[in-house]
Amino acid sequence: MTEAPVLFTVYPGDCDTFGHLNQAAFLAYFERARWQMLAGGPGMDLFERAGVWPAVRHAVIDYHAPAYPGHTLRFHLAVTRLGRTSFTMRQVARRESDDVLIATAESVFVCIDKTGAAVPVPAEVAAFLLPAHPAAAATTRRVSVHGLELALDDRGSGPALLFLHGYPLDGSLWRHQAGAFPGWRTLIPDLRGFGRSDAPDLGYSMATYADDLAAMLDAVGVDEVVLAGLSMGGYVAFEFLRRHRPRVRALALVDTRATADSAEGRKGREIAMADAREGGAPLIAEQMLPKLLAKSAPHALSEEVRTTMAGAPVPGLLGALAAMRDRPDSTDLLAGLKGLPTLVVVGAEDVLTPPREAEGMAKAIPGAKLAIIPNAGHLAPLEQPEAFNRHLAALLAGVTESRPAER
Ligand code: MLT
Repeated sequence: MTEAPVLFTVYPGDCDTFGHLNQAAFLAYFERARWQMLAGGPGMDLFERAGVWPAVRHAVIDYHAPAYPGHTLRFHLAVTRLGRTSFTMRQVARRESDDVLIATAESVFVCIDKTGAAVPVPAEVAAFLLPAHPAAAATTRRVSVHGLELALDDRGSGPALLFLHGYPLDGSLWRHQAGAFPGWRTLIPDLRGFGRSDAPDLGYSMATYADDLAAMLDAVGVDEVVLAGLSMGGYVAFEFLRRHRPRVRALALVDTRATADSAEGRKGREIAMADAREGGAPLIAEQMLPKLLAKSAPHALSEEVRTTMAGAPVPGLLGALAAMRDRPDSTDLLAGLKGLPTLVVVGAEDVLTPPREAEGMAKAIPGAKLAIIPNAGHLAPLEQPEAFNRHLAALLAGVTESRPAER
């Protein structure tokens, strides 16, 4: 779906006696913004052409700040889940003049036919909704593990590379790595609670994430992987190593740390959990965004990252925060990684897991290589994909093909 935002100016007739845009009018503005995006893309008749109609099953609006007549509002849209017959959209409205967050909306649509029966999302519609996501229709699979469905971007063939995203993001973090390594199969899941994977209310821990991944690999016929984890994905990678070490043939620790949360950090998780309950994902996105990217990051990238984060399901956020708060210290694991080809990568401007963390890990892992990527913050693979992919390709070149990765 087009990422181009839509602009509307607040019309006086839509305002209430207090002079601000009335809450009921927002529903219409969000709807108009969706239609405008269709008009600017495949055409307003996309659904009719495919013989289906998107019926709204659920709509929630969060109001963050008032808007007044003459204010120009900018609407962004992201598809956060694409199921068999339904999909979820997150919309964000900001004031154009100063970028203030005005409102967010989440809508769930079910595709129905003329009789009102739910029908599968047609391929043309799915391809329009999610072309930019690494798990776009053609490469997406939904894999059942432990009673839920995980979305998995699965491309190419050969030995497998498994990429684990950070918090509060999803597999789209790795879109420049998807299918980018000839001779390798890239596997990019959305962890439970994120992206288009199911988001149960309970059942989150580093152990659960790691065991989900092991079950997912079983389900897609992969025995061993080169494992790359960014930030929280790195915490999951450590847990995966603890529980499934024989399945890892090389490791990339990206913008992450081996240490557990400090007492202060654990308190911070509790505060973030309260914020997520109170203000939802958009509030978490506001808080996280300034810490994620290098100073030189383009505005469009920053908006994209914000939209992804603002669409994260709240149960997934709460689960991840608790899992990170309770994760064990993995420092003791590092020396034992001897013999496992390991790359430690960090953005030179990463303020969340700064280069000194990466340097410490690289020193503690016998034989590990360290790469510090200029003009990158906490999301180096997304910010500087060429440099990141070069370093990862060098790790892959050193990985021996001693055992088959697929079965
Ligand atoms: C992440 O990027 O996954 C988080 O910043 C990790 C953390 O909060 O510890």
